[in-house]
Amino acid sequence: MQAATSTRPRRVLLGISGGIAAYKACELTRLLVKAGHSVQVVMTRAATQFVGPLTLQALSGREVALDSWHPLRASGMDHIDLVREADALVVAPASADLLARAACGIGDDLLGTLLLARDAVPTLLAPAMNRAMWAHPAVQRNAARLRDDGVRLAGPGSGEQACGEVGEGRMLEPEQLLLEIEALWQPRLLQGRRVLLTAGPTFEPWDAVRGLSNRSSGKMGWALARAAWEAGAEVVLVAGPGALAPPYGARTVRVETALQMRDAVRAELDLAAADVFIAAAAVADWRPRQAQAGKIKKQPGAAPSLPELVANPDILAEVAARAPSPYCVGFAAEADDLVANAQAKRLRKAVPLLVGNLGPQTFGSDHSSCVLVDESGVRELPRMDKLELARQLVREIAARLPARA
Ligand code: C5P
Repeated sequence: MQAATSTRPRRVLLGISGGIAAYKACELTRLLVKAGHSVQVVMTRAATQFVGPLTLQALSGREVALDSWHPLRASGMDHIDLVREADALVVAPASADLLARAACGIGDDLLGTLLLARDAVPTLLAPAMNRAMWAHPAVQRNAARLRDDGVRLAGPGSGEQACGEVGEGRMLEPEQLLLEIEALWQPRLLQGRRVLLTAGPTFEPWDAVRGLSNRSSGKMGWALARAAWEAGAEVVLVAGPGALAPPYGARTVRVETALQMRDAVRAELDLAAADVFIAAAAVADWRPRQAQAGKIKKQPGAAPSLPELVANPDILAEVAARAPSPYCVGFAAEADDLVANAQAKRLRKAVPLLVGNLGPQTFGSDHSSCVLVDESGVRELPRMDKLELARQLVREIAARLPARA
């Protein structure tokens, strides 16, 4: 799971309703605080049967709000003030009962009234319940009604449940909820769009254990996958080998070689047209013409000659040449003459947008700067965290996308 970074500190009002998953709200509180956010916890009476308010007080560093009759705010108006002070209202876990009360606008406790008073505060509910409860038509009706009311529902996931059954109804993991919460603050500029990305290096086998590769970490591609998902896109990531776990919110297709990456990209585009193609992968330029079977044996005092190399296909140029083609974004990692090289590469590959960065410095780093080159000129984005840079790039891409037919 990638760490959340660079989202500026915000104030989260975290409601906890009664369910076994309430224990995971402790970890969620810790993760939010660790990411720099402040957390005000509100617990329903039932929630306090599962975890003690003192635990949440210690983790959040704030007294927990328990009911309207012992207000934390001097105004005595906790049922309004707590949500007005917040940048997001999150309920995790959201029980079947909580969903029903929220869907019907029942304000019979503090959390119920806060959900009524939320106004334009972005709101996320993380349902958690037994699979049969989640599948019940009444719960599904309530979930649909809440979505219509502009509430985001995160999950539930599928898997083993506290009751011993297996199915849909598990609350998302705290790490996933943190990503969902931070996504609340990003504009949904790519809602309904399909984004296909390549990322990471490729590995071109020479024999069974050796091969050609490069030092790309995949971090920029991963950050772009996250930023595109946050912006509401359906994201498919075709990823070369690397240590990073598949990013949350994207479908990841793992490949090893450039030829496999090209095949996977073609297959995805044949499956469904993409609105955007972002080629962030550092595709190996060449591959051994023939990979040797088995491992080349070491001979004392002698070295084998290097294999004959052949050029790999240019995946980006191929996608740009398709008709119709998605909006194509290329990257150029250059050691010098960044702008001139990026401009030349944009024209050579016939893509509308090229992102240039200084290669060796950015490989493996959590930070990068870049220049954007398009038909109208050059724009610099200063050095920043790769996630923030990815969010800015998504904004730039969204602004350039042709309007939908
Ligand atoms: O030609 P160069 O490797 O410098 O171009 C870099 C850009 O082209 C990147 O966007 C990279 O992902 C893409 N590329 C590709 N297939 C290749 C080589 C590069 O898609 N074989």
